[in-house]
This record gives sequence, C-alpha cells and structure tokens, in this order.
Amino acid sequence: MGKDVIIACDFDSAEKTFDFLSLFKGRKPFVKIGMELYYAEGPQIVKKIKELGHRIFLDLKLHDIPNTVKKSMAVLSKLDVDMCNLHAAGTISMMEAALEGLTREDGTRPLLIAVTQLTSTDEERMKRELLIDKPLTEVVMHYAHNAKIAGLDGVVCSPLEAAEVHKVCGSKFLTVTPGVRFADGELGDQKRVMTPKQAKNIGSDYIVVGRPITASQDPVKAYERCVAEFVD
Ligand code: C5P
Repeated sequence: MGKDVIIACDFDSAEKTFDFLSLFKGRKPFVKIGMELYYAEGPQIVKKIKELGHRIFLDLKLHDIPNTVKKSMAVLSKLDVDMCNLHAAGTISMMEAALEGLTREDGTRPLLIAVTQLTSTDEERMKRELLIDKPLTEVVMHYAHNAKIAGLDGVVCSPLEAAEVHKVCGSKFLTVTPGVRFADGELGDQKRVMTPKQAKNIGSDYIVVGRPITASQDPVKAYERCVAEFVD
C-alpha cells in the first residue's frame, strides 16, 4: 500500500456514516472507524463498510495483558480490516502477542500500528502524573523502536515526528499521522498541525483527516484536495 488519505469517520451512528459515504458515489476512500462508531454499532458496522468496498483502519487502541490482546486481535482479524492498532505502552510482549493473534491461518494479517504517546499528553503531564521524566520526543522514538522490535508495521504519530521516526526505525516503517489541517482551515482542538502537502514532504505514509473533510460544506471536494496535496 502506498501513500493514502484515511478519512476519520467520527460519527455516532451507522446512518450518519452511510449518509456521509454515499456522497462519494463510485469512489471508495480508506476510512478510519474509531471507538465512538464501533461501540455504537458493533462489529456489523465494520462488515457493512467492508462490503461497500472501503479499506478500513480500525482504531480501537488495544491495551491489556498479552493473552487478552492476542485473543481480541484474532477476533478483529476475522473482520478483515486492513489496519488496526494498540498502545505501545502495553510492552513488547503485548505487541508480539497481538501480532500472533492477528495473523490468520494463511499467514496474512492486517497492518498493525502502535500508538506511541497520545498527542493530547504533554511533557508536563507525563512528568507529574505518569512519572516519565524523559523528553516527549525521546519517549515517542523509544516506543516506536519497541514497536519495530516487536515486528509491528509502524506507528501513529504527529506529522512533526514522522521524519524522526523514519530515521530511527527505517523508511519502510509506516507513519500514520493525524493532526492535518488545510492552510486556510480551522484548527479545532488540534494544536500541532500540518497541511497535507507538508505531511507529504516530511514523509508521512498515511494522513488521517477528520473534520476538515467530515465537517466541510463539500466533503468530496475536501477529500480530493487532500489527495491532490498528499498523494498526487
Ligand atoms: O477531526 P480531526 O482531523 O482532528 O480527526 C483526527 C482523528 O485522528 C480523530 O479520529 C482522532 O481521534 C485521531 N487521532 C488524533 N491524534 C492522535 C491519535 C488519533 O487526532 N494522537
């Protein structure tokens, strides 16, 4: 899979999701299903979107003991998603167990991506609440390196960290980057953002774009603008 734009379908119902996807007519964008939609509609929503022909990033960020994560990943793998994720904080053994659970009998599996540090966590909070004293970037790179050692395919990170992740983990290690905004668009609650063009230049492999597309007056046009800047 090459560079692509993933639309974050942060809707709370199947109805709203299908209304949105129907705007795209023949096109089948790569979509991200997060906790909100998955918990509202269950695994059926994944099956239905897959039947429509979309590729799916199932963003459920698993984090539990290795055995539980392994068994849960085996269940998610049967849904035939293309990409799923977990928290690198769950340790290398948890990530290895996840890969094992995810791998199907024929050896195929969805891509597995690790969340390093959520972009909502800042250095001050890490120090005060989590007792992590190292600089944020060092922690992110260390977690990315752990994910690489465990055999994962890449990490979710800020586009600002993508180049450094490639330096530490190699250019084939995928960087999936949210926090994307158009140069003339609203920031919303995202603080450290990049345009699709900047994300491309810095080497992101996938950009995850929500509100700049979903809240746009013309979502298809906004999606095409992302593709034009990031992929073409
Ligand atoms: O609407 P917006 O473009 O900000 O959506 C970004 C998407 O990426 C949301 O689904 C959000 O949960 C997700 N995300 C993020 N920052 C992270 C991890 C995931 O914005 N660090």
